[in-house]
Amino acid sequence: MKVGIVGKGGVGKTTTSSLIARALAERGRKVVAVDTDSNPNLGMSLGLTFEEIEAIPQLPRSLIVGAKGDVRAEDVIDTYGRTTPFGVTLISAIKVNEAGAGCTCGGHASVRSFLGDVLEENADVTLVDMEAGLEHLSRSGGTLAYADVLLVIMEPSRKSIITAARTIALAEELGIPRTFGVGNKARLPEDAEFFEKVCAEYGVPLAGVIPYDIAVVDADRAGGSLATGSGDAVRREIERVVDFLDNVPVS
Ligand SMILES: Nc1ncnc2c1ncn2[C@@H]1O[C@H](COP(=O)(O)OP(=O)(O)OP(=O)(O)O)[C@@H](O)[C@H]1O
Ligand SMILES: [Mg+2]
Repeated sequence: MKVGIVGKGGVGKTTTSSLIARALAERGRKVVAVDTDSNPNLGMSLGLTFEEIEAIPQLPRSLIVGAKGDVRAEDVIDTYGRTTPFGVTLISAIKVNEAGAGCTCGGHASVRSFLGDVLEENADVTLVDMEAGLEHLSRSGGTLAYADVLLVIMEPSRKSIITAARTIALAEELGIPRTFGVGNKARLPEDAEFFEKVCAEYGVPLAGVIPYDIAVVDADRAGGSLATGSGDAVRREIERVVDFLDNVPVS
């Protein structure tokens, strides 16, 4: 399964991507996580140090992956993938190293091509943590055109739910068959009710609601991943989202 994680800025895309990836790896799945943020942070949430993240080789721009291209997806994973402490393989696809270096379209084209070639033998699940906004769905071809499922992470705010509704419409145009919302940072029972009510209003199917947990904030401030044994309520809901994904039919 190929899963794209999208949503408005700061809603928790990277945090959720890392926790879903970890939960899948704990279930024995082979997981490849792709960071497509030009300011990449997924490595930190997956337990790498800043120095380790800085040393990860970047996926070359405009790489053509596939039988008729430069390399196969398995070579991309072998060459550019880095194993993280929880067993997830991380690929860092897009990073802006230099001011004025130009647009990142070439990097997005590489990710699109990689997703098009990656097979079950290479990874049970490929998870792509996207930069905020909707541009990845509008770029030529769409970075996530080969995704099976999109998860739109939302805060308990109407604007982030409207973002999810817009994402669903664009994803359908791109031919991505299944898009679901995931509520995050729910502090009160009222927040969970808000997600249910407003998602229904805008036609956003909900895959789960993850609570706000100070343990997530502390992990972020300490520059690491959520420690094993902390954030129990968050982990429980992440497990439910993973169960939900396991039951999504993929053609
Ligand atoms: N469930 C949660 N409980 C508490 N804090 C959370 C939760 N999820 C995310 N956060 C906090 O919200 C902030 C933003 O999270 P994160 O970086 O994952 O968002 P993002 O959507 O990837 O942001 P960006 O748009 O910049 O890529 C971080 O400080 C993180 O610790
Ligand atoms: Mg992020």
